[in-house]
Amino acid sequence: MATNEQLFERARRVIPGGVNSPVRAFRAVGGTPRFITRAQGAYLYDAEGRRYIDYIGSWGPMILGHGHPAVVEAVQRAVAEGLSFGAPTEREIELAEAILDLVPSVEQVRLVSSGTEAAMSAIRLARGATGRPKLIKFEGCYHGHADALLVKAGSGLATFGHPTSAGVPPEAVQHTLVLEYNNLDQLEAAFAEHGTQLACVIIEPIAGNMNFVRASVPFMRRLRELCTRHGTLLIFDEVMTGFRVGLHGAQGLYGRLIPGLRPDLSVFGKVIGGGMPLAAFGGPRAIMEQLSPLGPVYQAGTLSGNPVATACGLATLREIRRPGFFEALSERTRMLVDGLQSAAREAGIDLAVDCEGGMFGFFLARELPQNYGQVMATDKEAFNRVFHGMLQRGIYLAPALYEAGFVSAAHTAEDITATIEAARATFASWAAP
Ligand SMILES: Cc1ncc(COP(=O)(O)O)c(C=O)c1O
Repeated sequence: MATNEQLFERARRVIPGGVNSPVRAFRAVGGTPRFITRAQGAYLYDAEGRRYIDYIGSWGPMILGHGHPAVVEAVQRAVAEGLSFGAPTEREIELAEAILDLVPSVEQVRLVSSGTEAAMSAIRLARGATGRPKLIKFEGCYHGHADALLVKAGSGLATFGHPTSAGVPPEAVQHTLVLEYNNLDQLEAAFAEHGTQLACVIIEPIAGNMNFVRASVPFMRRLRELCTRHGTLLIFDEVMTGFRVGLHGAQGLYGRLIPGLRPDLSVFGKVIGGGMPLAAFGGPRAIMEQLSPLGPVYQAGTLSGNPVATACGLATLREIRRPGFFEALSERTRMLVDGLQSAAREAGIDLAVDCEGGMFGFFLARELPQNYGQVMATDKEAFNRVFHGMLQRGIYLAPALYEAGFVSAAHTAEDITATIEAARATFASWAAP
């Protein structure tokens, strides 16, 4: 039996960094990534046969837990019918109808294979539909790795961003303006200066790529007003929050807090694929019909709307629509974060927590951060000690302080209690002299 370390060494010979997506390499926290052999319910099992309670859930999709029988059955049935046709199927219509049914701002939707692709395509559509070049994104929000989005703020509001990755020419980000999340002054100034040129603003309404940070209600309200006034399309990136923080996503929550609030375009991923490569973007018919083959905005994909992925997504959506699903999931998640907070408090450690539906965040800080700078100013060393303390005790948390966590419907009250016990032991061991 190969150990995790042996597998990692072998992987590093043939795969850059040994992983196919960077955060899996544990670079932020140090140590050896666990090589997973199988997963069931709330548990992951690694190559050494150890079991972990999983709070990553494949970074969001596994809202039902691993190996949910209804999902497995739907996928197996689809596999038997064929893996890919490159031609339309009824299941694509069913998935589109299910999304429309749950997200009233969406009148038409296009299916793609990854969140990166969905966000990139939504931005192209916004630029094509408005005929404008510029866009705003917020520091700490992640929308995939399209060139125009791998960008950090320039030196001032009048200047556009700088690439954050080698291989992205400055020209690729010259139209991307990066603002601080929840900063109303910067938002006002950016619209005052560039409003007529702004095709879109893309935002994670609850940011899960800087741990867990909510857009404040006044910020969201003003953002919507400014977009409407300037003819700029507001894009909610709900790849993480969609069908995860609630049945109607973050837009369902903000729509209740700010009556009438809707995004123009929405981007989905993760849960709608239930663990298979599937994502989507959608919005009003008049905008969506700008896409090829009807309109001038080109977008395509060999595996888009894949029959196995749509079967998996549909089965997942069917389960999360059952009465009481989100109430139970929210209660579990709340039990977890409250328990973590009390365990920290008992050890005299400051821990700020927040959650919504099946998504949560915790910060080694007295108060919840409001933006990326504040998140990154929280105690990284302490986070790493928590991460490794929990991992040793069989709890699999995201290996970086800027990632959100996920609870699934498969997590039992006993799993949560065991997790809180592990946290108590972790905090106690480090508080000891
Ligand atoms: C909010 C958000 N948008 C987009 C993406 C990109 O999705 P993918 O990794 O499927 O390309 C992610 C991935 O984590 C995400 O969290």
